[in-house]
Amino acid sequence: MSLFRNATASASGFALVALVCISTAFLEVTPAIAKAPEKAQPAILTASAIAVADKYSADAAEQIFKQGGNAVDAAVAIAFTLAVTYPEAGNIGGGGFMTLYVDGKPYFLDYRERAPLAATRNMYLDDKGEVIKGMSLFGYRAVGVPGTVDGMWQAQRRFGKLKWKQVLAPAIHYARDGFEVSEQLQERRDAAAKEFAGKTNFDTYFANLKQGVNFKQPDLAAVLQRISDQGAKDFYSGKTADLIAASMRGHGLITKADLQQYKAVWREPIQADWNGYRVYTAPPPSSGGIGLVQLLKMKADLAPDFKDVPLNSPQYVHLIAEIEKRVFADRAQYLGDPDFYKVPVAQLTSDAYIAKRAAEVNPSSPSDTKSVHVGLGTSMPEKAETTHFSVIDKWGNAVSNTYTINGYFGSGVVADRTGIVLNDEMDDFSAKPGVANMFGVVGSDANSIEPKKRPLSSMSPTILAKDGKVALVIGTPGGSRIFTSIFQVINNVYDYNMPLPAAVGAMRFHHQLLPPNTIFWEPYKPIDGELAQQIEAKGYTLKGQNFSGDIQAIKVNGDTPEAAADPRGRGVTRVIQ
Ligand code: DON
Repeated sequence: MSLFRNATASASGFALVALVCISTAFLEVTPAIAKAPEKAQPAILTASAIAVADKYSADAAEQIFKQGGNAVDAAVAIAFTLAVTYPEAGNIGGGGFMTLYVDGKPYFLDYRERAPLAATRNMYLDDKGEVIKGMSLFGYRAVGVPGTVDGMWQAQRRFGKLKWKQVLAPAIHYARDGFEVSEQLQERRDAAAKEFAGKTNFDTYFANLKQGVNFKQPDLAAVLQRISDQGAKDFYSGKTADLIAASMRGHGLITKADLQQYKAVWREPIQADWNGYRVYTAPPPSSGGIGLVQLLKMKADLAPDFKDVPLNSPQYVHLIAEIEKRVFADRAQYLGDPDFYKVPVAQLTSDAYIAKRAAEVNPSSPSDTKSVHVGLGTSMPEKAETTHFSVIDKWGNAVSNTYTINGYFGSGVVADRTGIVLNDEMDDFSAKPGVANMFGVVGSDANSIEPKKRPLSSMSPTILAKDGKVALVIGTPGGSRIFTSIFQVINNVYDYNMPLPAAVGAMRFHHQLLPPNTIFWEPYKPIDGELAQQIEAKGYTLKGQNFSGDIQAIKVNGDTPEAAADPRGRGVTRVIQ
């Protein structure tokens, strides 16, 4: 029986009741779906805290906490707000993953997009069997069936304390009344507009997204208002579903039946013991949780090799690359949607298997890529966006949420009369075995396209707990760089004792098996000079990448949360008493 069914039975207190209007900073809250009163949970922390991608979502979360909401209420309000104020990645037209820790128990919600019913294995191949460039990245046919609204609905119904309308209110406010466009948002818009020019209707909605402008989205406000009034059913079978299906007709594959059949799924999170902590992270259809556990444990197995190796030194980079090589080989071969393909999760995360892989690491020089890998691929992420937020409340509940439309502004298609930016998540499938996707990662049959299947992801919203209490909440965007980035920050904090902000701000690098022996570095903290020469002398090629994440993390020190937003993005932290 699914976790969700168990919970539905215990959440019998939900009822439709008319409630007295509560005045908020955003709007008058009208009658809504309400929760039955519940036993007060004792506060165990001095404050609640958030690390989020922009200041509007931070304001929304603060508002929710002030109204008595918990971490789940705040998370849902953040997610809807980012769909308005962070349209390059925040979304209701995409999907994602939520790792939760509520009342001392871990949960995982998969609201990843699914392939449409009419999708076929070879839908992105030409008649010679070659992948048609860009087809899974731009335009209507790149779009997977969105899951965010059902995800938020299920999370809030199951664990939220406030009324649904209260958590939608901030997003509606920003869509209706506008928000001020930041420099970074305009830059991203300009870059996306160039790519989408002549291919999609992107500029019909976003031509005016200019720095300093008060940007209003009346169509999106109307959608959010309907979702607020009617719940997720508006999006999946109501007027919004009709509008999305009408937009797709004659262009893309998604129909109303696709929307009606969509369901977010509660799954068992990946769990592992590491370094005195219990790690809770994303299971398939993410590759990220398995990858993160393999990275953490393989490094622990190699402790003698890492002894006295300075952080980010040439030898450190080499050893980590050796570990990553093996993790990405497994990713390419074994990982896909568990509802369609039997992923050997227990085997891939078992101590014995990881120790065996660790023993294959060559401490002195790069091991032969061919002996480790399957398939070929060389591409680099040129456009990429996803966003992560971390939340903890004073009762000790936490939400780690990563959601995405894949590329910046997704497919570039905005569903007519809705303002909903639609994802290009279909690119995360393996369009052809061995051919790389936007992030340069390859796949096998495990990740081939099938109707209703979820494409393999790297998103890894993660929570670490110690003695049953949340210790760290962490995640990031970055495609295939996601779990290697999270790994590096965790490692900086716990193995190298760095304070959280320094750990988040430190240099990051990435290797993913292919291209062979290539270390990607980032413009924020480039690998250059002597360090570069020494890494090259070990047999590696260095390559700049234009994106390396936007970590949002919260660490609990004693009973006090500390939050850090990645200096690479426009993220904001708050500690709320
Ligand atoms: O699910 C995935 O792994 C990708 N669609 C995530 C994309 C992403 O992180 C882009 N951000 N930089």
